[in-house]
Amino acid sequence: MKVFITGGKGLVGSFLSYTFRDRGDELYAPSRKELDIIDRDRIVKAIKLVKPDILIHCAAFTDVDGCEINKEKAYLTNVVGTQYVVEGCAEIKCKMVYLSTDFIFDGKKQTPYSEADIPNPLSVYGQTKLLGEYYVSHLHQKFIIARVSRIFGEKGRNFASSLPELMKKEKKIVLTDNLINSPTYVVDLVEAIIFLIKRDFLGIVNVCNKGECSWYEYGLKIKEIMNIEDVELIPVAFEKFSNRKAERPRYSVLDTSLLESLGFSMPQWEASLKSYLEMQ
Ligand SMILES: NC(=O)c1ccc[n+]([C@@H]2O[C@H](COP(=O)([O-])OP(=O)(O)OC[C@H]3O[C@@H](n4cnc5c(N)ncnc54)[C@H](OP(=O)(O)O)[C@@H]3O)[C@@H](O)[C@H]2O)c1
Repeated sequence: MKVFITGGKGLVGSFLSYTFRDRGDELYAPSRKELDIIDRDRIVKAIKLVKPDILIHCAAFTDVDGCEINKEKAYLTNVVGTQYVVEGCAEIKCKMVYLSTDFIFDGKKQTPYSEADIPNPLSVYGQTKLLGEYYVSHLHQKFIIARVSRIFGEKGRNFASSLPELMKKEKKIVLTDNLINSPTYVVDLVEAIIFLIKRDFLGIVNVCNKGECSWYEYGLKIKEIMNIEDVELIPVAFEKFSNRKAERPRYSVLDTSLLESLGFSMPQWEASLKSYLEMQ
């Protein structure tokens, strides 16, 4: 299979690249420097030249607070860039996977969000990712929109890799206890994406590990798995964090029944976190 990955050097893009390469698939996964998705001519030309069987669109401006500060960059990357990628895919009729987010929801629902729930993003990041979804679903027919949440894994800045580092330096760490969603291991996510591609699924689907937690509970679990006793984690409401520019949904757990009904079951987040931390 010939695979094109945008954002190939990011957290998800790198593991996807590693996995496809390992399977012996033909891979084209340029970095932003090699191929900027906001350059329409180049991105459309590259897609037409490579003619992939599948394109997985991981490139995005993912700094949620940064998107509030630099709205134009957020719109250009997450909306306009996505539009160009979709246009390229539509021209050659190749299947496209778009990674979306639980941040398209306002978090007011008290139970997990299904694919049919109405989005209402609270942040520029959430708004631009939702607009990206609209372009994907309106300009193209052959698409998978995978809504994911709080990814952790090898590359990139993520809580499961940064908290253990912070715990080596700080003995008291404040974490929010009222933002609830599901941590998702990049290894499980990539396996689910490959399953969806192989199964020829088209449409919107939630993909995250089972279970839910706040950042505070997530931190406690990391502390427990790593057997760290000399660090105190302090729970605090998100409202007390004055350095956060973007509003965030309080409860944005994604319901994965659709994925399960297709035949793929994601592991519990605690089990995947343990596997990840034990490999470090
Ligand atoms: N991580 C999460 O918790 C999470 C949760 C929900 C949804 N998602 C979605 O999952 C996808 C992958 O996320 P991730 O965690 O892998 O993000 P990431 O680690 O930030 O990677 C994003 C990649 O996109 C590249 N990029 C940014 N602007 C670009 C442009 N104009 N042209 C080409 N490449 C560009 C970045 O390159 P530079 O580093 O050079 O800028 C980076 O390599 C994104 O669509 C994100 O919205 C992520």
